[in-house]
Parts: sequence; C-alpha cells; structure tokens
Amino acid sequence: MSTPAPAPVAVLISGRGSNMQALAAEQGEAYKIVLVASDRPDAAGLAWAREQELETFALSPKGIGKAAYEDALDRALRDAGAEWIALAGYMRLLSDAFVARWRGRIINIHPSLLPKYKGLDTHARAIAAGDAVGGCSVHVVTEELDGGEVLSRAEVEIQAGETPESLAARVLVEEHRLYPAMLKKFVRA
Ligand code: GRF
Repeated sequence: MSTPAPAPVAVLISGRGSNMQALAAEQGEAYKIVLVASDRPDAAGLAWAREQELETFALSPKGIGKAAYEDALDRALRDAGAEWIALAGYMRLLSDAFVARWRGRIINIHPSLLPKYKGLDTHARAIAAGDAVGGCSVHVVTEELDGGEVLSRAEVEIQAGETPESLAARVLVEEHRLYPAMLKKFVRA
C-alpha cells in the first residue's frame, strides 16, 4: 500500500510567525505547507517564509474591505491547493462566511487554557486572577472567537513574580511543541 500524500496546509500569520516556523520544521509525511498568507504585508514571519522559499501571499484588507480581502485570500488558498488552514498568530477575525467555506478545516493556537481567557491579554489576565497555571490550547476554529472544540492543551506553572512576558515566553515553548503535534493529528482525522 502506498503512503498517502502529505496534507496540504496553509498557515495564516500576522506577525513574527514563530509558530509558523515550528510548523514548518515538522513538515513531512503528515503535512506540507503549501502557502503562508498574511494580512500584514510587513509581517516579519512573511520575510522568513520567503527566505525558506515557501509560497507566500500578502494582502491587507485596508482599502478593499473585508469581503474582497477574504475572497482574494480564499482564491489564493485554493490556487495553492490548500485543504487545511492553521492560524498562527493571525490577528484578524475570519467572517462567518469564510469559516463556513472551510468548516472543520481550520485550527488555531491560543495562549490560554481554553475556555478561560478567550481574546487578548491572556497571560496578564491569568496572573491577575491568581491562577496557578497558564498555558495554551489548540482548537478548531468556528464562528465564535476562540470558541471551537479544544483538541489539546499544555499547562505551564505560574511562578511567584511572574510577568505576562515571562509567562508568554514559557508558554511559547509549549506552543511550538503542541501545535505541530496537533496539526499532524488534525489532518489525519
Ligand atoms: C502566539 O502566542 C499564539 O498563541 C497567539 O499569537 C502568538 C503568535 O506568535 N495566537 P507567533 O507569531 O507564532 O510567534
């Protein structure tokens, strides 16, 4: 029996793209990155992706509006042959229509132990609440912000004197471990 081809994945970023790099490092039998797309043409991660000779697509919704932006993004994803989407620090909300078109095929990594702390400033909120642990979660993307099924979480102990930055740095190490592992499982399911 022949092994199935790697699942074609697009990674969506807005910034430095360290999770994208972790995903790229783990490409292989399970998945292959066919496109890195950014809503910010100046995203540092995009420059890295170009250096790696990954296919890239950069377009800002500014000036053209969300619908035209998402149509162009959708076309780029399909032209690249993407069948799955991994959000990796993608800071823009996808519309309900876009999510519906890719239903069950988009995942995200979020820096909190979902369902706690959806949205922004997750580490500061966990510290302010006096939580003993913080962490990250990989979840399926639905119309609800950070609200889809949680596939896996990784916990990080919150230490005395912890700052949002120090916690973010330790959680990021876990993100880079968890996300590729979960993407491999997700595209196989
Ligand atoms: C990560 O903390 C991720 O969990 C969150 O945004 C951050 C992106 O970092 N969604 P990077 O661009 O992957 O370095």
